[in-house]
Amino acid sequence: MIIPRILVFAGSLRVGAFSGQVADVAQKELALQGAEVTRISLGDYPLPLMDQNLEREKGIPGEAMQLARQILAHDGILIASPEYNASIPPLLKNAIDWVSRVRRDGDRAVKPFGEQAAALCSSSDGAFAGMRGLYHLRAVLMACGAEVVTPQCSVPHASKAFDSNGDLVEERLRKQMETVCRALVQRAAQLSKRADA
Ligand SMILES: Cc1cc2nc3c(=O)[nH]c(=O)nc-3n(C[C@H](O)[C@H](O)[C@H](O)COP(=O)(O)O)c2cc1C
Repeated sequence: MIIPRILVFAGSLRVGAFSGQVADVAQKELALQGAEVTRISLGDYPLPLMDQNLEREKGIPGEAMQLARQILAHDGILIASPEYNASIPPLLKNAIDWVSRVRRDGDRAVKPFGEQAAALCSSSDGAFAGMRGLYHLRAVLMACGAEVVTPQCSVPHASKAFDSNGDLVEERLRKQMETVCRALVQRAAQLSKRADA
């Protein structure tokens, strides 16, 4: 069985972010399911606002290249995101837009997201759980060529959703998280170009 490499990150940098807590849970669950997990923060890849004049004059920022390489080095990605006005927060959309412009790494033609499986989680302190934003995030990632698995996990009333260990309180949500992680691990393993069978 191939051990898939999964990259996990949140779509928020807020201190105490609910999406960071959801990413923590996903990271734990993916490791339990046997994946090799890398956790990053988009804060380590600060990017200017996507602007094609800037791109033409200065090229793709080094941080976008590094993020693209991280994605390319994995078989799957899991993004835990809030929604802003029922859509994708600008931090996350901006990162995806820059990474989508990376088409070469040295002599190699590359397509970040195009070789990966992806899975989505959301959270909010409200009842909608940020799930409206995931429809947009799903569409954007699909446009970038990612294979987004159907199950997803959306955590409502997030300020009360975690226990003191950081685990999800509700059994229903724990099951959802298990399901989305299983779908991602399976699809990422199938897509993996890793040789260790
Ligand atoms: C510009 C903006 C728009 C927002 N729009 C929504 C929204 O549409 N739905 C929602 O549930 N929460 C919305 N929120 C509240 C966020 O869910 C809340 O700030 C949340 O804590 C952010 O996610 P985080 O905890 O992962 O940082 C919005 C917040 C901001 C700053």
